[in-house]
Amino acid sequence: MAYIIENVPEAIRESKQLLRKLAAEQGADFKVTFDELTESIKQEVSEIKALKDSGEAIIPELEYADLVASGISDAQKDQIRLRGCAIVRNIFPEQQVKDWDNELGVYLSDINYVDASMKSTDDSMSDVQKANPQMFSIYWSKPQVEARQSENLAKVRSHLNRLWHYEQDGKQLFDPDVECTYADRVRRRQAGDDTLGIQLHVDGGSIERWTDDQGFHKVFRKLIAGDWQGYDPFDAAYRNDTREVTSPAVSNVFRTYQGWIALSPQGPGDGTLEVIPMARALAWMYLRAMQDDVAEDDLCGALIGRSLRYKEEWHSLLKDALISIPQMNRGDGIWWHPDVIHGVEEHHNGDDFSSVIYIGAAPACAKNEAYLKKQLPTFEDGRSAPDFSAEDYEAGFEGRGKMEDLTDLGKRQMGAA
Ligand SMILES: [Fe+2]
Repeated sequence: MAYIIENVPEAIRESKQLLRKLAAEQGADFKVTFDELTESIKQEVSEIKALKDSGEAIIPELEYADLVASGISDAQKDQIRLRGCAIVRNIFPEQQVKDWDNELGVYLSDINYVDASMKSTDDSMSDVQKANPQMFSIYWSKPQVEARQSENLAKVRSHLNRLWHYEQDGKQLFDPDVECTYADRVRRRQAGDDTLGIQLHVDGGSIERWTDDQGFHKVFRKLIAGDWQGYDPFDAAYRNDTREVTSPAVSNVFRTYQGWIALSPQGPGDGTLEVIPMARALAWMYLRAMQDDVAEDDLCGALIGRSLRYKEEWHSLLKDALISIPQMNRGDGIWWHPDVIHGVEEHHNGDDFSSVIYIGAAPACAKNEAYLKKQLPTFEDGRSAPDFSAEDYEAGFEGRGKMEDLTDLGKRQMGAA
């Protein structure tokens, strides 16, 4: 059922009152909890800054072949849970990825993407952005369909999903070994572009995190109770019970990770991903918004129906931990926890396209299976995936991926088996 918030300032005021009441009932106080967590976060930020200054790796990296042969070591698991992100190298052979990249270029031209985009009524994009698209609202090209249903990727995601705690009271909250396809878009950014920069943000809802007293309040129950040490971002309990408002900027599935596969080499400065590699950063933002210096009807500038933004005015404590991701090569993948603050560099200073296919992880659970039911007809008709703006650029184009292109695994992941 749709989650609707009619009077936003009132909803925020009431939610803050409720959250304070819940905290007080458990002997907690948002200022005390915030001050304690701030000390811990400060330390983590300075550790990351020191690593950054000395040029050391910050994001844990795994080799695909090692991952498949021997899994993830306990030390690596701890690092991934701390940083909230991981790079997996060499998931796909370079030639296959080159072919996908070329094929995508042809596909975009065959569907006359730019002409269609110019006519788009999506008012979140300027005319300049429509005329020079860098983020493409396509979901069903054969390269995307093939990449999503690959056995290699299924193995990677199953390992990464298992970093979550996915059992509660003996009940499995999701199945780490079964993925639900979440069709997402493609970034294909031209050298020199300065239109795509995406400000630092967290996806998956903004003010809902404070107002949704059924799902999100339970996700953050330990923070509310003052037990910031016990708050675990990788605890899946209640994560798939959250309610989000309907908006093209808000994902309505439970993703264990957001992520992408590099189709072209790209490193710092090439208009690629930047992250604050801290799984607990959102917990700190959560408590930040509950402090007395934030207006009673404000959540540090959070806007309904948008991603939750990092705001310099409120969140600058985290700034020193901001990094661009290291050099990625064709066929490498990166995944980040849905609470990780991330953005896209403002300028692409490299000299070639920086291209990725977005593929996160959305393991099987009731929430994701319900989404599959909505998504399947859009695949069959070639329409935009239901979480996104209904551009429908691929509908009617014969060369898109179709049911006959799905493997048995692909059909299962699509909810079509
Ligand atoms: Fe994002």
